[in-house]
Amino acid sequence: MHMTDLIEKKKRGGELSDEEIRFIIRGYTAGEIPDYQMSALMMAILFRGMTVPETTALTLAMAHSGDMVDLSALGPHTADKHSTGGVGDKTSLVLCPMVAACGGKMAKMSGRGLGHTGGTIDKLEAFPGFSTAMSPERFLEIADTVGFVIAGQTANLAPADKKMYALRDVTATVNSIPLIVSSIMSKKLASGARTIVLDVKTGSGAFMETEEDAFTLAREMVNVGRQAGRNMAAVVTDMDQPLGFAVGNALEVKEAIAVLRGEDVPDLRELCLVLGSQILTRSGISPDEETARAALERSIGSGAALRKLADMVEAQGGDPAAVYDPSRLPAAPVRRTVRAPRDGYITAMEARAVGLVSMHLGGGRATKEDVIDLSVGVVLAAKAGACLRAGDPLAEIHAASETAAAEAEKELLACYTFGDEMPVRPPFIRGVVS
Ligand code: URA
Repeated sequence: MHMTDLIEKKKRGGELSDEEIRFIIRGYTAGEIPDYQMSALMMAILFRGMTVPETTALTLAMAHSGDMVDLSALGPHTADKHSTGGVGDKTSLVLCPMVAACGGKMAKMSGRGLGHTGGTIDKLEAFPGFSTAMSPERFLEIADTVGFVIAGQTANLAPADKKMYALRDVTATVNSIPLIVSSIMSKKLASGARTIVLDVKTGSGAFMETEEDAFTLAREMVNVGRQAGRNMAAVVTDMDQPLGFAVGNALEVKEAIAVLRGEDVPDLRELCLVLGSQILTRSGISPDEETARAALERSIGSGAALRKLADMVEAQGGDPAAVYDPSRLPAAPVRRTVRAPRDGYITAMEARAVGLVSMHLGGGRATKEDVIDLSVGVVLAAKAGACLRAGDPLAEIHAASETAAAEAEKELLACYTFGDEMPVRPPFIRGVVS
């Protein structure tokens, strides 16, 4: 088999066989197929697409390119959740403790933030002493005893994806649906959970900007996961504005704790209930979505989910007292209120731009090596649809200095669009693919 023939075949719109796909992924992971040939193939895939059997074969080959985590010791109710990324997305911090309190086992591997989006690992490090590095034995032990654990991704999880993703980034081949499906699902399959629930974002802060693309991506990921024998569901949700109100690491942890304490943070609480219901029903813990939702609500009302968060923080070396007293989390020295410049409705917000405000304050990374400030960010006071008078609070900026706060204020004001007519907003949850 020759890589040039396979590139040629895909360039002409042909269908690659399972064997050909395994040859490519094995050869590329081993360094026998060079980056320039892989780049050419990925560009051909971007233009020609892949059939469902091709995408499934590619995903499985990528998943098997490294370690396949075995979670069978945790029993039948292992679950994982993946979000395609957004601004203010602290869902895992709320969802995992709720599911754990209802009998699920979530052994999650998460990433760090890059660019305008944050990462769960960074957010958790706001708990003093918290560590996401641990042995595989300890990882399983925490998942078993607490019901959930969140660690950094191991180096050898889907190494083919690591190489391919880095290459896609510099060859303009990121936004190909089969390449995104195989990239995300290879890591999820290798992570070992029986049930996988996906949160596919659509809108200005997401990389699937149109709803149509988001549904296509959701359907294909569900399809591939099912072919691989996993229980699957995907929820397509709005990312035209940040999720919840807080954007920035410690600020998002505080908001997640507020939801676990029973506060209704619009959209965030609902999203966690919808994702959680899917996990409990797909994994067989609850017989139907209504029962699942009631169990999840009880986990908040009884304080069980909040206690799960404290147990997990303690098991991973962090200070559990900060769960009950969030004033122990990092706090920025400067706070500045940003006020509405005019009367009227907020007709739109640029979610991505709000993420960039937090990043520029020091809360996110421009490069992987950047050190971030966990205390800074933005807490929105009003989002799209709100009707304000000039001078009403729009947001509070948490900054390391007055200069940074002043700069952020200018940037943040540009994220809002005002108008005189009440905007018609689509529902936050666009649909469930199951
Ligand atoms: N996230 C991933 O892990 N891979 C992609 O291709 C896109 C988003």
